[in-house]
Parts: sequence; C-alpha cells; structure tokens
Amino acid sequence: MNRIAVMTSGGDSPGMNAAIRAVVRTAIYHKMEVFGIRRGYQGMLEGDIFRMKTTDVSNIIQRGGTMLKTARSKEFMTEEGMQKAYGELQRHQIEGLVLIGGDGTFKGANAFFEKYPIPAIGLPGTIDKDLAGTDVTIGFDTAVNTAVEAIDKIRDTADAHNRMFIVEVMGRDAGYIALNSGIACGAEDILIPELKTDMQSIIRKIKSDQRRKKIVHLLVVAEGDDFGGGMDVKNLMSKELPDADIRVCVLGHIQRGGAPTFADRVLASRLGYAAVNALRAGKKQVMAGQINNEIVFTPFSEVVKQEAQIPEDLKEMTVILTT
Ligand code: F6P
Repeated sequence: MNRIAVMTSGGDSPGMNAAIRAVVRTAIYHKMEVFGIRRGYQGMLEGDIFRMKTTDVSNIIQRGGTMLKTARSKEFMTEEGMQKAYGELQRHQIEGLVLIGGDGTFKGANAFFEKYPIPAIGLPGTIDKDLAGTDVTIGFDTAVNTAVEAIDKIRDTADAHNRMFIVEVMGRDAGYIALNSGIACGAEDILIPELKTDMQSIIRKIKSDQRRKKIVHLLVVAEGDDFGGGMDVKNLMSKELPDADIRVCVLGHIQRGGAPTFADRVLASRLGYAAVNALRAGKKQVMAGQINNEIVFTPFSEVVKQEAQIPEDLKEMTVILTT
C-alpha cells in the first residue's frame, strides 16, 4: 500500500490533531504518500483532498480542533453521495484510509465500505466515549477535565450564594462526561441516560438537605438524560420546590475545544501510529481502540451496533457517594 488518506469527521475532539500527526509521520516514515481529506465525508465526495508533508503536522499536537476540519455530511449517506466519494478516492488513487470520528463516522463507514471495499482503519475520536471496542476515546479525557474545571468554579459561586445549580454537560446519548465530571466534583446528583433517575427521591433529598441547612446542591446532568437537559430538569424541580433559587449552566461546546491533555495526546499518537501499521499489515474495516492498555481492532459493524456500558460497581458507587 503506497497511497493513504486521513480524515476527521463528525464532532471534533481534542487530540484529533495529534492523531493526524501520528498518521502522517508514520506513513511518511514507511515511504508512503499521505493525503489529507478536509471536512470529513463531505470533503471526500467533493474531492477536497491534498498531499501532506511531515511539516504540515508540525506544531499541532497541542491544539484542539482539527487541522483537517470536520463536518457531518447528509449527502454522503445517499447512494449518489457515496458514489461521488468513491469516484474521488479513485481519482486520487487512494488505496487505504484512516477515519477519525465517533458513532456517525462509523455508521457512514459501515454503509460505504459494504459497497466500496477500500481498506480503512477507524480511530475513536469523540468526547462522548460512547463507542464499543475501546476503553477510551480521543478527546474524552480533555472534555471531562474541562467540565471538572468549570464545575469547580460553579461550586465556588453556588457556595457563596447558597444556591442550587444544575450543570448540563455534553453527551447526547451517553452519560460518561456527566458521570465522571460529577464524581470528580462531588456532585450531589448525577443524571445520565444510562441510569434511571428517580426525580422524587432527588426532591426528597434536597428537602432533607435544606432541613439540615445544607443549601448547596449541585446537579450534573447529561444533555441526553431522560428528563431532558438542564432547563427541563430545572422546570421540573421548580414546580416541586417553588422557593428554591436554582441556576442552570450549560457548559456546551467549550467541552469540545482546548488543548488536549497528555493522556489524549498519547492515546491519539498511539492509535494513529497503530492505524498505519494495521493498513500495512492488511487489516481493514476495523476500528483501532485501546482496551487494558493494549491496541485492539474491532469491526466497524460491531462498533456501531454495541452500546458502551457503565460498569455496575460505578453505578452503585455513584448512588452511594451522592447520598
Ligand atoms: O461530539 C459529540 C457531541 O459533542 C455530543 O455530545 C453533542 O450532543 C453533539 O456533539 C453536539 O454536536 P454539534 O453541536 O456539532 O451538532
């Protein structure tokens, strides 16, 4: 294999640049030609593909975002869009691909490579950590650290005013950011889609806290919780606690940006390097992940189908520590 291309797709995540850098440098080390595809699948079908040199990836390992840009492409999911993308890959004589992204990226990959079997290796790049086949995803560690820093600050002001706060963190279908930032910040309650929330018991707890003059109550809510996001939870609570002074803070996209932590930089470097070696070894249509500190490969179809699970002990611990 001599000509490969790399792209980032879906929501960006801190560490994507470190992964791109590792792919480019490992490929060039092995005397391969390496191309960048801008704006994910959309750029692929538009032929936004360019040759990359080792210096193109200088000074990016510490940067959030992605130098290749990213997009969510509806057009790619159509038959015509996929045909166009395949045509562009052929025109550029691309023999192998490295795709960095989350759930949507692997859904796209699954549909595309069934029909157009160009060897491809995926890398898990998402702050949500909602992919099977890996213990960790590129960007998750940074996003949780960003959330922790913000929530700690919110607790300072919550404490100063004796206020209740609801902090909404990202995670449309997954509660990993909420769970981990909530544990790390000593949240009084953590609401995530994977755990059934008993709103009445939360209300009872707040009332009992108020009786014992523990006024500050900080809830961390995943945006995809069954009760909805932070504002929905506040509206529900205000009905039951009309006198409570409740503030809502939606952390939003700041969780997706910023310099990646060392853990994300190392993970991304390791996976990027592994992806090129996997292509050279003839692997295809698999995602490279890290489980128990080992690199493992999981077929795209399984990455899409399975939902990551939160271990039972962590669920139990969360209930105990927030009591
Ligand atoms: O990247 C994952 C994610 O951050 C989700 O947690 C969130 O729901 C979604 O992306 C928001 O994406 P966007 O604003 O780019 O549509």
